[in-house]
Amino acid sequence: MSEAATALLWRVAFDVPERAIAAFEAAFGPFALTVTSYSLDGDRRTPGEARWRLEFLVPTMPDPSAIERTIAAVAGQLGIGVGGVAVAPLTEQDWVAAGLAQQPATRIGRFVVRGPHERGIAHPGKIAIEIEAGLAFGTGRHETTAGCLIAIARLARRRRFRHALDLGTGSGVLAIAIAKLGRIPVTAVEIDPVAVRVARANVRANGVASLVTVAGGGSAPARGRRGYDLIVANILLTPLRRMARRLVERLTPDGRLILAGILVDEEAALIAAYRAQGLALDGRIQRGAWPTLVFRRGLGGGGRAA
Ligand SMILES: C[S@@+](CC[C@H](N)C(=O)[O-])C[C@H]1O[C@@H](n2cnc3c(N)ncnc32)[C@H](O)[C@@H]1O
Repeated sequence: MSEAATALLWRVAFDVPERAIAAFEAAFGPFALTVTSYSLDGDRRTPGEARWRLEFLVPTMPDPSAIERTIAAVAGQLGIGVGGVAVAPLTEQDWVAAGLAQQPATRIGRFVVRGPHERGIAHPGKIAIEIEAGLAFGTGRHETTAGCLIAIARLARRRRFRHALDLGTGSGVLAIAIAKLGRIPVTAVEIDPVAVRVARANVRANGVASLVTVAGGGSAPARGRRGYDLIVANILLTPLRRMARRLVERLTPDGRLILAGILVDEEAALIAAYRAQGLALDGRIQRGAWPTLVFRRGLGGGGRAA
């Protein structure tokens, strides 16, 4: 049987100008399990006109001509060009990247998040993260955790980070993922003392105690003038807005900031808060109603309006 015939998921992808993203998300998003978008122009972009790649994972084989018609209709309305259209079944590896395998261990991108009872099961080619969540948040099954793991893996493919901060570490899942993926130091901070204990135990169980430091506290600790070139914070809208200035101060000039814990209807408020601090949106992953946002420093504070 052909790969196409047996595919469980399909990817529909194309490139559009930044200002057209919302219209295409509205057209294709309702049929997709995961919507991912990311800037193709990186730091060179002109706000608003930068090219972004949009990817929709859909559960049924799409009709390419229907897709072309929809793309042409939206592009025609906006008077823009669309490039790089690709409709393809997911490969085995990509299918794992969708993070949708219904298995006791949760497969997300390059990671497999599993409990201690699944220790004996091999996952060739994957980075295993063992999590005893206990009373702490972060089994990997929540859409926000998954969105952050996908964002981390995507960023790590493009560059090497030097020192990361995981604010609101919960079970420690994201800090452990970063340490295992990049072999870099990670400062993990958690306000809940119970979760601090859980995270420390998980860090030890994953053999990354020499890389991950778990600290109790409710805000981002300073690293002198060096800052963090990767910050991830999966918390909630209100604290994320409150701490915007402090978090951005801690980000290196070339750093990336991943934020999650918000719902789609809270996204505009969060983007506005971080644009006001000079950041621009650099990527976005949506799973269910939960967007994960990736920011970088902007050229004059530009970035996609939600
Ligand atoms: C949604 S969970 C995320 C856990 C884990 N990072 C993940 O992605 O699965 C948010 C965590 O942030 C913690 N938290 C909330 N506000 C915080 C703050 N101001 N500083 C540090 N941790 C905070 C909570 O106690 C909780 O453990």
